[in-house]
Amino acid sequence: MKVLSGQDLLSGLTALRARQPVKYWAFYSSQLGGIVTDPALMVIPFDDHIVHRGHGIFDTAGLVDGKVYDLEAHLDRFLLSAGRSKLKLPGSRDDIRDIIIQTTAVSGRRDGSIRYWLSSGPGSLELTPAAGAEPGFFVMIFAGLSYSEKWYTEGLKVMTTTYPIKAPLYAMTKATNYLPNVLMQMEAKEAGFDNGVFIDQDGHVGESSNMNVAFVTKDGAFAHPKFDHILAGCTSLRLLDLATTLRDRGLITGVEVRDITVPEARASREMMLLGSSVKVAPIIKWDDQVIGDGRPGPVAAALLRLLDDDMRSSDRLIPVPY
Ligand SMILES: Cc1ncc(COP(=O)(O)O)c(C=O)c1O
Repeated sequence: MKVLSGQDLLSGLTALRARQPVKYWAFYSSQLGGIVTDPALMVIPFDDHIVHRGHGIFDTAGLVDGKVYDLEAHLDRFLLSAGRSKLKLPGSRDDIRDIIIQTTAVSGRRDGSIRYWLSSGPGSLELTPAAGAEPGFFVMIFAGLSYSEKWYTEGLKVMTTTYPIKAPLYAMTKATNYLPNVLMQMEAKEAGFDNGVFIDQDGHVGESSNMNVAFVTKDGAFAHPKFDHILAGCTSLRLLDLATTLRDRGLITGVEVRDITVPEARASREMMLLGSSVKVAPIIKWDDQVIGDGRPGPVAAALLRLLDDDMRSSDRLIPVPY
C-alpha cells in the first residue's frame, strides 16, 4: 500500500474528478480561506464533524439569469437550522450573504444552484465539537439537480414510503442527516416510481425526499400540509402567497395550510411536488391511485408560471456583481 505525499494527493483528487466529471463551478471554504474553481480542490477535512457525525446544516438557493432568488428566505431557514443544531455561524448574516454572492460572482455562471453548509468543524472523532473547533462555512455553485422534462409534460408517480418520517424537530431542521430521504428515493426508484411520500404517525401527509407535497382538494382549494412536522419549503411558502392570485382568477377556491389525511389527499383533483430544484411538478399517480383525471392539472401549471415569473422579476432577486 502506497503512503501518499501531498503531490500524490493532488494527483489522486484530480484523477478522481477525471473519472467522474462534475458540474461544480466554484467552492468557498472558510477553512481554506477563499474560493477554488478546480473541483479537485473542493475538499474538507475528514474529521470535520459534518462528515462523520452529520453535525452540519445546509440550504440551497437558485441562481436565475445572473440573480440569486429568494436568498433572504433561505438565510432565514439556515439561521433557524443553525440554532436548532447548536451550530455557531462564523460571521454575521451579512458576512454569510456576502460570501455567497462573491462565490457566485467568481463562478461566472448565470444559472444554477447555490448550496451552502455550516459545520461544527474538525479536531476530533468525538460527538460534541472538538475543543477549539471553528465552525466551517462552505459554498458550492453547481449546475443544480435536473429532472426529466416528462415530469412536467406527463406528470410523475410517487409511492408511500415504507420508511418512517423524521421526528418533527429533525424534519424541520435542514441538517445533513438525509438518510431517510435518501432511502425513500432509492426505494421509490427501485419500485419503478419517481419519488416517495412520507406519512406521519397520525396518518397525515408529510413531504417527499427533497420537496414538499401539495394538493388541489376535491372542492378546489390549494391545500398544503402544516409545517410543524416537515421542512418549511421556501418554494411552498412563496407559492402559498402567490396562489391567492389564482383564487382571484377563480382557478382555486382558497389556500389552506392544515393537516391532510391520506384518504382526502388520494381523492384530490391535483397533487404536486414543490421545491427550489423541482419548482412545481404534477403528480398523476400515487401508489395505485390515479390522481384526478390522471393528467397534469391546470393549477400546477399556473403555479409553475407564477414561480417562473417570480424568479425572473420580483423584489426577491439579488443581482450578482460579476
Ligand atoms: C426535505 C425537504 N422538504 C422540502 C424541501 C423544499 O424546500 P425548498 O422549497 O426550500 O427547496 C426540501 C428542499 O430543500 C427538502 O430537502
